[in-house]
Amino acid sequence: MLTAEPLSRVLGAEIKGLDLSSPIADADREELLTLFWQHKVIVIRGQDVAPDGFIRFAEAFGTIEPFFISAYNLPTHPQIYVLSNVRQDGKPIGRDGAGTHWHSDSTFTEKPSSATLLHGVTVPDRGGDTLFVNTADAYDRLDDETKARIQGRRAIHRYQRKEFVYSGDRTIDDAERTEIERVKALRMAEAAADAASPTAQRSNQEPDRLHPIVRTHPVTGSKGLYLNDEMTVGIEGIPDEEAVPLLRRLCEVATAPDTVLRYKWRQGDVVVWDNAAVIHSATFTPPDLPRVMHRLTIAGTVPF
Ligand SMILES: [Fe+2]
Repeated sequence: MLTAEPLSRVLGAEIKGLDLSSPIADADREELLTLFWQHKVIVIRGQDVAPDGFIRFAEAFGTIEPFFISAYNLPTHPQIYVLSNVRQDGKPIGRDGAGTHWHSDSTFTEKPSSATLLHGVTVPDRGGDTLFVNTADAYDRLDDETKARIQGRRAIHRYQRKEFVYSGDRTIDDAERTEIERVKALRMAEAAADAASPTAQRSNQEPDRLHPIVRTHPVTGSKGLYLNDEMTVGIEGIPDEEAVPLLRRLCEVATAPDTVLRYKWRQGDVVVWDNAAVIHSATFTPPDLPRVMHRLTIAGTVPF
């Protein structure tokens, strides 16, 4: 028997009654999926789960698909993609500074991931939060004129190198901004000096993908805004000088600070989000505070 305690008014719930170190019973799996689609972001706290257990849990949500950049896969379990600011012998052990803008995962592909799971393996005391917005709620908050303007339109999604952007977190103060700029300059210089950098290699090799701006959820049927703030570069059939400001405004309305769920991680937390129902953004982690997250993504379908 699972219970769900809501984390905010419009999205997120902590699920209790699960122990990920052993397989989930079939009845619990059904209930878990129902709660997942209802709450869109679910959290299972304090799970001391090994990679095998994390993978087994992820399979409850569908078929695991590897991330397109393989450089940061966990050597023993290559399905797991490592996000980290930790360096060993000068080399990063995981990807650092990614996802620091509002987005849904892998929208620059034909079939973006349906769900993403993160396991907090090493969680810093400060920084490294994850921000979430309910995109159906964001759509409902639009005025009728804007809804009519975007109905049936497709946005152009283009993969671009967008690390260390930090456009998703609007609560940053001046001191933190200065620190962010310092770290960003350092990391970008390192990446520029490394032609073999996996993200540099991927840039601009992907064709543009067109996805509906108003996406119908494949399970619940609800309508939500489908945006990737830094990588939706235009709208099919609308001149860029109109389309780009419209996209920026949609994102601004969608991510109004009072509607954002800021998730502060604790050691061992497992968080799962529904990429068809939320957009999310990473926040800054101070480089001296180690952070290691394991990530798994679930194969999705063509958005409609
Ligand atoms: Fe992401």
